[in-house]
Amino acid sequence: MARNLHPKSLILASVAATPLMIWSAGAGALDSIEALGKNIFFDEKLSIPANKQGCASCHDPTRGWILPDSRINATTVVAPGAKPHALGSIKPPPNAYASFSPPFRPGNFGPFVPPWEGGNFWDGRAEGCGARLGASCPTTPEGAVSETIRLSDLPSGVQAAYGKYLGPTADQALNPFPNDVEQNIREKNVCQQVKTAKYKDLYRQAYGGNIDCSPNPKNNPAYRTSFKLLAVALAAWQASSDVNSFSSKRDKALAADPERKFPLVGFSVQENLGHDLFYGITSTLNPTGKRANCNVCHNGVPQGQPADPTGEAAKQLYTDNRFHNIGVPFNREIPGVAKGIKVGLRAHVESVPPGSFRTSTLRNVTKGLNGGFVKAYTHNGWFKSLASLVHFYNTRDVLPRCKEDLGITDATEKEALQKNCWPAPEFDNPAVGVVGDLGLTDAQEAAIVAYIKTLADEHTPSKP
Ligand code: HEC
Ligand code: HEC
Repeated sequence: MARNLHPKSLILASVAATPLMIWSAGAGALDSIEALGKNIFFDEKLSIPANKQGCASCHDPTRGWILPDSRINATTVVAPGAKPHALGSIKPPPNAYASFSPPFRPGNFGPFVPPWEGGNFWDGRAEGCGARLGASCPTTPEGAVSETIRLSDLPSGVQAAYGKYLGPTADQALNPFPNDVEQNIREKNVCQQVKTAKYKDLYRQAYGGNIDCSPNPKNNPAYRTSFKLLAVALAAWQASSDVNSFSSKRDKALAADPERKFPLVGFSVQENLGHDLFYGITSTLNPTGKRANCNVCHNGVPQGQPADPTGEAAKQLYTDNRFHNIGVPFNREIPGVAKGIKVGLRAHVESVPPGSFRTSTLRNVTKGLNGGFVKAYTHNGWFKSLASLVHFYNTRDVLPRCKEDLGITDATEKEALQKNCWPAPEFDNPAVGVVGDLGLTDAQEAAIVAYIKTLADEHTPSKP
């Protein structure tokens, strides 16, 4: 009986036996456009110097789609580019579940929340404007990072099938190749590499013709159009259940629960308590209805689905895809990034105060933490453990400020934990009321950590 409730694990079990097929977690074989995107994602030849860097070099599925370098995560945080000595300036966020973020758009979310939501990147500047079918959308929207891909960029025969892949994640995929602190390769070279790659047939299958890397016509060379179609393929795979597998302990225990309700039969008492604190639910485990308020921001479902106030939706995303300042301290260990420079949404939209960043999903936060591997959390990676970040949310406004007269300037996490202090937020006016002084006990903090650990996907796509 229980076995029938887990068809996914049966499909996964068959993967090892059929290595030539490309399977995704829930949907069986990937279709050609998804498989094309997957091959591009892992292709390290698509960089200069060649064989140096693919998307997976900074978004490794075995580590929850982030930088797979424990030593860098523990210290300088930012990823090296393909070019020697090139360095990023912000932490690579996970790319999984990013495709659920709606195109960047205005909204009204209350007095302290900037009136914008959606997009990809920490500041939402991969806007995905071209996904608004029929609506007006400038080729390069103001403040956006790159061009946007529109329906008219797709061959007419596939517009109906692939239009759904346009949006922030497709626009995002235009950026890493030409970026000199990432893959450092021109659009035309990417096109030519794919033309001779061992997976080149997937392009033909997906788009119904061979890839065209011609420099003509001059005003809109064929290689540029082809490059956009590769970005759409990357978006297609990143929207597939191979990447967004919803295969965590939480997802499986929820699907297997007779009532599909918390407390889950498949959860420990501690994990169920963590859930109740996260959502502020009064229960036998949480009789006083203590609220950690995490759900105020880490809560969201795919567009068009009903809101999920109690965290019982199968496709809970654990992000509102909005922008908040939670008071992250300045990280002095990132080379070349001075205090006050990384302003988040403000870099994209001038009318908002500096310091708000797009809410991270909590899926896969602890995936791949085996063998002492260190991850960095929040946009500048100041936090090196989930436990310390939860302690920060609980006590940001309670513990003393780390002061220079204690001999530390811009304390690191390690220094702050040693002195039992928190540095001032890098940007003023962080969110108050919902976080900063939660009054949680040590056991309640630990329960929230235990709950977030259940959000790590069990499915891990492997290199094609
Ligand atoms: C050198 C490291 C590096 C490489 C290579 C890289 N990325 Fe990223 N990626 C980043 C960083 C850093 C960010 C955040 C940048 C920002 O927000 O300003 C990011 C952001 C993203 C996001 C946005 C996630 C979100 O929720 O906003 C997606 C999606 C993504 N990358 C996909 C890709 C794809 C696809 C490729 C290959 C074409 C790729 N990345 C290559 C470092 C990298
Ligand atoms: C006011 C909105 C808000 C509330 C409330 C909130 N968060 Fe966050 N959270 C964010 C934002 C925004 C970020 C990204 C901040 C940044 O990088 O500067 C974030 C980042 C995180 C991260 C880092 C994820 C990563 O991959 O780097 C974790 C973990 C996290 N929050 C857990 C929690 C928990 C647990 C709670 C409840 C105790 C909570 N958050 C409450 C908005 C919020």
